[in-house]
Amino acid sequence: MAAKFNIRNLRVFLLLLLMTIAAFLLLSNVEQVHQLAVTQPPHRIEKIELESLELVEDTYEDIPLEHKMTTESPRLVTQRTLELKKLLKCRDRQLKLEKVQHGDYWVIKNLVIGRESQRMGCAESITYTTNGDFTFFDNLETVAQRWLGPISFAIHSPGYDLNSTLDAIQYVRNCLPGSQLISDYVSFHVFFAHAHMPEYVPYDESETLNWPYNCVAEDGDLLMPPYYQNRSQMYKVQANMTYPINVGRNIARQAANTHFIFACDIELYPSLGFVDQFLNMVYHNNSVLQLNPKLPPRVYPLPVFEIHEDVMVPNDKNELMQLFHKKKAQLFHAHLCQNCHKVPGYQNWLNQKFNSSDQLKLFSKTLRQDTFKYWEPFYVSDNREPFFDERVTWEGQSNKRIQGYAMCLLGYEYHVLHPAFLVHSPGIKIPSGNSTRAIYAKEMTKFIKSKIQPEYRVLYGKNKKCFT
Ligand SMILES: *[C@@H]1O[C@H](CO)[C@@H](O)[C@H](O)[C@H]1NC(C)=O
Ligand SMILES: *[C@@H]1O[C@H](CO)[C@@H](O)[C@H](O)[C@H]1NC(C)=O
Ligand SMILES: *[C@@H]1O[C@H](CO)[C@@H](O)[C@H](O)[C@H]1NC(C)=O
Ligand SMILES: *[C@@H]1O[C@H](CO)[C@@H](O)[C@H](O)[C@H]1NC(C)=O
Ligand SMILES: *[C@@H]1O[C@H](CO)[C@@H](O)[C@H](O)[C@H]1NC(C)=O
Ligand SMILES: *[C@@H]1O[C@H](CO)[C@@H](O)[C@H](O)[C@H]1NC(C)=O
Repeated sequence: MAAKFNIRNLRVFLLLLLMTIAAFLLLSNVEQVHQLAVTQPPHRIEKIELESLELVEDTYEDIPLEHKMTTESPRLVTQRTLELKKLLKCRDRQLKLEKVQHGDYWVIKNLVIGRESQRMGCAESITYTTNGDFTFFDNLETVAQRWLGPISFAIHSPGYDLNSTLDAIQYVRNCLPGSQLISDYVSFHVFFAHAHMPEYVPYDESETLNWPYNCVAEDGDLLMPPYYQNRSQMYKVQANMTYPINVGRNIARQAANTHFIFACDIELYPSLGFVDQFLNMVYHNNSVLQLNPKLPPRVYPLPVFEIHEDVMVPNDKNELMQLFHKKKAQLFHAHLCQNCHKVPGYQNWLNQKFNSSDQLKLFSKTLRQDTFKYWEPFYVSDNREPFFDERVTWEGQSNKRIQGYAMCLLGYEYHVLHPAFLVHSPGIKIPSGNSTRAIYAKEMTKFIKSKIQPEYRVLYGKNKKCFT
């Protein structure tokens, strides 16, 4: 009894002691705060309040403090971005200029950075990754206006082609109705082989943006864009070089700072609103993703179409189908290679009723096997699929099929989306009889079968159903 009584007494005593200490701490804290308010100059307090108002502080963990304190309005971080970031476990990363070696090439990554893309949150958008030389810049305005998200653009610029590339960068950033969007979203990377070093490369972004340009001639006429220059005068053509398309594709992918990318050819234009449609789909239904690394990984292709030269690029599926019924639109490369671009359930995709309030959804799925063994899809991915084999050039064709082969061996599932799609820059491709490309292609196919394919079988395993 006595022992029990003593313990209870002790507990009461300890409780009282604790309360006294707490009260003392509270009081002295109040006093300190009061003193701070009196002794600190008022602007100091304002600054503290401003900092603590940045609710989304943790999404910018990589950004040095001095950049956080700029006067730019803070990025609007939506609930969707916050939740997707948690779901995808991705990290935000600020884009910066880097000079790196890539096999036989020098790469100036982020020679010019899109202002909005620089601090893009990893779950905030999707990066359209693409490549070309300066003669492809005519597509950039359309792509930027339709994508409205970061664009990572790798440009092959050997020898003096770099000068023309700088002309083209300045022109598209300053002289077009869509220049603002291009400056906001497009990050430009240049690359060239060691053996074809330009004599001049800008040191940094500000030197690049100081490169002289003219939008109009002295007599007030509009100047022809530098990217319409005669191809036969290009360094690349004069030096009899091939186009290393897969080097460009890989550089553009490696430079993306968003979790999702869309590795695309710059002449392929997306239907409107795609970035938000895709992120909303994932946000509202997480199970469209395969987040379990033990189950087959997924990518999300869009069907690709081509249209006649004399019609406008359709904005949504309604407009696409109107062109279809007038025979002004058709499957991409319908005359060249049906099985290269037909998606699973192609006819159903076309027939599926479309309502402009429809959400994006997973429409059909397949592996790259059987009917689809030659498929060359363009898709959204998490950028973890195999890189493109850099031994294959544009002239050699088959430049996407090797990646498709590796993804088949790895068991990738392709989930086709509806109602979004891609349209090739207007004009229908017809087979051309005798081209030097066909000669390269024949040699390349031999090389792929005898050398590349056996390597992939060693690395990724065998499967008789997979083809290059
Ligand atoms: C390219 O630009 C640099 C720097 O302005 C210049 O020195 C060089 O002569 C130019 N090359 C050609 C071929 O125009
Ligand atoms: C391009 O240059 C070549 C040779 O210099 C010439 O034969 C051809 O007509 C030119 N083409 C155009 C469109 O100027
Ligand atoms: C151009 O390159 C191809 C392939 O490398 C070669 O077959 C051809 O002889 C070259 N032509 C010239 C004029 O150098
Ligand atoms: C969510 O996505 C999965 C996979 O596509 C689908 O099976 C399911 O029906 C979707 N759920 C809703 C509510 O849309
Ligand atoms: C489109 O969908 C909305 C919402 O589901 C519906 O209210 C509307 O009637 C549909 N319109 C047509 C033409 O089907
Ligand atoms: C195809 O091109 C090659 C080389 O340019 C030429 O020698 C050959 O005669 C051409 N063949 C045809 C059928 O035009």
